Amino acid sequence: MTTPAAPQDDSGVLLSVRNLSLRFGGVLAVNDVSFDVRSGEVFTLIGPNGAGKTTMFNLISRIYRPSTGSIAYAGPDGAMLQLTRQQPHMVAGLGIARTFQNIELFEHASVLHNLLIGRHRCRETGLWADLLFTRRVRAAEMRAREKVEQVIDFLDLQHCRDQLVAGLPYGVRKVVELARALCTEPRLLLLDEPSSGLNVEETDDMAFWIQDIQQALGITVLMVEHDMALVSRVSDRVLAMNHGQVLAMGSPREVQSHPGVIEAYLGRADTASDTSGPLRRPPASPGARTSA
Ligand SMILES: Nc1ncnc2c1ncn2[C@@H]1O[C@H](COP(=O)(O)OP(=O)(O)OP(=O)(O)O)[C@@H](O)[C@H]1O
Ligand SMILES: [Mg+2]
Repeated sequence: MTTPAAPQDDSGVLLSVRNLSLRFGGVLAVNDVSFDVRSGEVFTLIGPNGAGKTTMFNLISRIYRPSTGSIAYAGPDGAMLQLTRQQPHMVAGLGIARTFQNIELFEHASVLHNLLIGRHRCRETGLWADLLFTRRVRAAEMRAREKVEQVIDFLDLQHCRDQLVAGLPYGVRKVVELARALCTEPRLLLLDEPSSGLNVEETDDMAFWIQDIQQALGITVLMVEHDMALVSRVSDRVLAMNHGQVLAMGSPREVQSHPGVIEAYLGRADTASDTSGPLRRPPASPGARTSA
């Protein structure tokens, strides 16, 4: 008996979230959210503190299991698979990598070792082969080293490759975390507040890296971000959330001028006339240097 083939995706959709909800006790952190991320785009989630953005990332990376709803993902062979049925440790192998709102690195290891450890998350060989250091393991090790060196060059990290992460400035650690995610050769990269805690110049560099990751490496990016100038600069489409629900979805300009979005950020829609520029980061937002 042959197994029926999984449905193939021909719509260009890489990730499809449908009616997703997650409840923590009395808090509905994500409430009936649906959206698609198309292959090759930068898709950004915005919303005030507590809107449910990081929870959405945690659902996609399988840290949490949804209360209801589904997440479909076009696997490496193009077949749509249900992420909710995958084991959490399989997610990296499917080509999904992420960075965290508060940097998660091995502080007392060098940049190079952090990247190699990150790379080993998508190991291709088994325990026995590793122990015997077979030819296949040696080839995989060579590929890992090559990839890590490529990423170090791509993100200009040569100057600190052998330094301990603990001694690096916050802005450089942020790039190292991005590098670690890239070392896994993702097809979908989740960035949770890539500019938080960065100064203007570092934020400008980050915008450049994100555009390069999309355009030069062809990686699809799903981002959470509060800096609306950065959002406008790099995003193809934006989804605004509040209290776990979708408020608006569309181009950066459409979403930032949506009355419901302005009200969620500023408290009153009629203050919109005060903001000729993009929405500002909400005042109480975490993620500054001190929170890392
Ligand atoms: N593990 C958890 N247990 C209980 N409640 C949680 C948990 N994680 C998140 N929440 C709650 O879910 C809601 C959404 O939180 P989430 O971290 O997703 O917000 P966010 O949009 O990322 O906010 P921010 O911009 O501040 O990072 C909040 O009310 C939060 O307190
Ligand atoms: Mg968050």
